Amino acid sequence: MSVRTATVSAAVAALLGGCVLLPAPRTHASDDRSAPVVLAHRGASAYAPENTLAAVDAAGDLGIAWVENDVQLTRDGVLVVVHDTGLERTTDAEEVYPDRAPWAVKDFTAAEIARLDAGSWFGARYAGARVPTLTQYLRRVERNRQKLLLEIKSPEIHPGIEKEILRILRKEGWLDREHVTHRLVVQSFGAESVKTVHAQRPDVVTGFLGTPAVADLPSYAAFTDQINPSYETIGADYVASVQKLKGAHGKPLRVNTWTVDDAAEAVEVAGFGVDGIITDKPDVVRDATR
Ligand code: G3P
Ligand code: CA
Repeated sequence: MSVRTATVSAAVAALLGGCVLLPAPRTHASDDRSAPVVLAHRGASAYAPENTLAAVDAAGDLGIAWVENDVQLTRDGVLVVVHDTGLERTTDAEEVYPDRAPWAVKDFTAAEIARLDAGSWFGARYAGARVPTLTQYLRRVERNRQKLLLEIKSPEIHPGIEKEILRILRKEGWLDREHVTHRLVVQSFGAESVKTVHAQRPDVVTGFLGTPAVADLPSYAAFTDQINPSYETIGADYVASVQKLKGAHGKPLRVNTWTVDDAAEAVEVAGFGVDGIITDKPDVVRDATR
């Protein structure tokens, strides 16, 4: 879909009460090897503040089905969507809580985080955007009929986060057959965290973030369905080595690479045969690879 078409879709969506109309999205890039799935990194984070509901909507307005996010636990055990382990880069935490350095997410309650402005740093029009809870985030993705690549961020400092994520996903209806089959992937840089999710809910599709040595790939394939590496670490040979193995659900392991924002680089990694490209600029990558 062109940007112009996406703009028209967004206008129609607005007329229909704010629901974003998406084209029939493809779940698997294997539907068309020449066109990787495009996943909006932290939402469409080049155009709206990362990991906010506005970034989810910005992806939807571009016709992008998949959004990626980062999930952490607050001091009182609430799941929130924010990338850094500290709050200072993407919120006004330093101003609101001047005595709370280093402003670690895990040291603040959900109510304290809910007071923060997570939009002004990006642009005045986003002033007042909040750090969403995972529950709020899931409801927005659901409302938009989008799909979620959920990253468990820094699981080593959030003991028990996997169980709480699965509890919220189930409570919000995200562990039914439709979601686990087509609309949800849970990934992490922490292999133990991915293993924990797989052990607790074997039906959930999982991804490991990183570039394991080819010799080690079979051990990862026992608990994950995707190997999601930095684009700077891969070539066609590595992608083929991953994809020739079967993952935890008996299907070929998939490769979603990150973070590609440049059209020429997108074309290059598409040529490697990746299944998906995670990007801050999903329109740029989509238009370059179709
Ligand atoms: O989904 C891939 C990517 O998000 C991993 O890196 O640091 O942006 O969470 P990071
Ligand atoms: Ca991430």
